Amino acid sequence: MEGSARAVAVVTGGGGGIGRALALRLARDGFAIGVLDRDRAGADATAAAVAAAGGCAAAVTADVADQQQVIRAFADLKARLGPTRVLVNNAGWDVFGLFADGDAATWARIVAVNYLGMLHCTHAALADITAAGNAGRIISIGSDAARVGSFGESVYAGCKAAIVAFSKSLARELARARVPVNVVCPGPTDTALLQSVGASPLGARIVAGLTDAIPFRRLGTPEEIAAAVAFFASPAAGFITGQVLSVSGGLTMAG
Ligand SMILES: NC(=O)c1ccc[n+]([C@@H]2O[C@H](COP(=O)([O-])OP(=O)(O)OC[C@H]3O[C@@H](n4cnc5c(N)ncnc54)[C@H](O)[C@@H]3O)[C@@H](O)[C@H]2O)c1
Repeated sequence: MEGSARAVAVVTGGGGGIGRALALRLARDGFAIGVLDRDRAGADATAAAVAAAGGCAAAVTADVADQQQVIRAFADLKARLGPTRVLVNNAGWDVFGLFADGDAATWARIVAVNYLGMLHCTHAALADITAAGNAGRIISIGSDAARVGSFGESVYAGCKAAIVAFSKSLARELARARVPVNVVCPGPTDTALLQSVGASPLGARIVAGLTDAIPFRRLGTPEEIAAAVAFFASPAAGFITGQVLSVSGGLTMAG
């Protein structure tokens, strides 16, 4: 095994953006990192960055929307690193557009990646995480879109709201095993995903408007999201479950 001495944290969508920052941060905190991404080059680059920083990582390629690929990827990571103790469901994808202009194939893909993908990964890792008891963690990346909606992102926002409701429900199911299940909701954060939203003239206006609406008047950084996830992954958060934490400069202040 490549990382048998360290507890294993798997980061989905770890090949770029927030996921890469999550991988680097959790590696710094002592975890061996499973980097799961559909983008082979991105996943390899993250694993190399973790290794260069003195950590331990293994990369696997899978589309989270495909349950068989996900099952194979988690089995591969288990053979190489050991059982998953912390799962960070971070893979996400969106196409910006008005709901009125959308089509069923695009809705299905958004749901498959953002919601079903999270279910596939959680199910694949569930037995090992549950076996870890209070050291196990499931942390999913939601979005402030789940809490207050987001213009041009209606189906994606619906998926993120579903992640919140699912996580609260799973938190109840896993309470007997003492496994905390929580959600971190980024606000607008400076990554390729946000840049793709801002690529159209309307999207650019929305991103500028959102930035103005953030009380701190700036976008978040991937490292700021990673800091919140690192807290939920740490022993300090062992009695916190079913919670949703926004990291968004005050964009939403939901109770
Ligand atoms: N950037 C933001 O402003 C923002 C705001 C709120 C929530 N989020 C959420 O944060 C998470 C990370 O977003 P990001 O901004 O880093 O995005 P990103 O596009 O920069 O990175 C996403 C990563 O996920 C991977 N990925 C996408 N679809 C996948 C699939 N089907 N299977 C496997 N891997 C896949 C990509 O290859 C990429 O490496 C997502 O869940 C996103 O919804 C981002």
